[in-house]
Amino acid sequence: MGRLFTSIYDVAMTPFEKAGFQKVRKNLLSPVKGNVLEIGFGTGANFPFYRDAAYVEAIEPNAEMIEQAAAKIKKASVPIQTYQAKAEQLPFPDQSFDAITGTLVFCTIPDPIKALEEIKRVSKPDATFHFFEHVKVDQQTAAKAQELLTPAWKAVCDGCHLDRPTIQLFEEAGFKVEKVKRYGGGMFVVFEGKI
Ligand SMILES: C[S@@+](CC[C@H](N)C(=O)[O-])C[C@H]1O[C@@H](n2cnc3c(N)ncnc32)[C@H](O)[C@@H]1O
Repeated sequence: MGRLFTSIYDVAMTPFEKAGFQKVRKNLLSPVKGNVLEIGFGTGANFPFYRDAAYVEAIEPNAEMIEQAAAKIKKASVPIQTYQAKAEQLPFPDQSFDAITGTLVFCTIPDPIKALEEIKRVSKPDATFHFFEHVKVDQQTAAKAQELLTPAWKAVCDGCHLDRPTIQLFEEAGFKVEKVKRYGGGMFVVFEGKI
């Protein structure tokens, strides 16, 4: 992630967090149980919201983001261990986790198909997944606008794709999507299910 983007990330996100993201994060993550893997934790925005997890192992490729997360780890209610790693190459043995979580991350992962393969590999049988993402919308004109904007958006926002059909990618990878809640005209979505 670009240095400037990293340094302003929390400040830039504050209005969105206050407008509802924090509530979404809390509702999504506080019930998640067992040994949890979080993908692309950024500055640790989700760390305050874990309540029932036995522990959270969390990966993030960007060293500067990892540094910023340190204060939130100290205040968390559950043990959190972080790793500098990419979702496409997870540093964990097969069948390690009961639940996989992530927020606003699949838009940015360069190879989401490989990341889903890796998530499957490290998940125990019957593991669950819990994600909050922004995605390509169904409405055709808006979807076209997302496609047109994505090249410029990617350059400014560290590789973020506005037009990624993330739920479809999960389903194509064999994940069983059981619960979907859409926000913001379908641009933001909470989705959960079994791996
Ligand atoms: C928009 S930020 C979201 C951060 C955090 N999850 C949140 O909700 O605030 C996207 C994150 O994805 C991370 N990322 C980029 N490529 C990745 C990859 N290959 N594997 C895992 N995370 C990645 C970025 O470093 C960044 O922290």
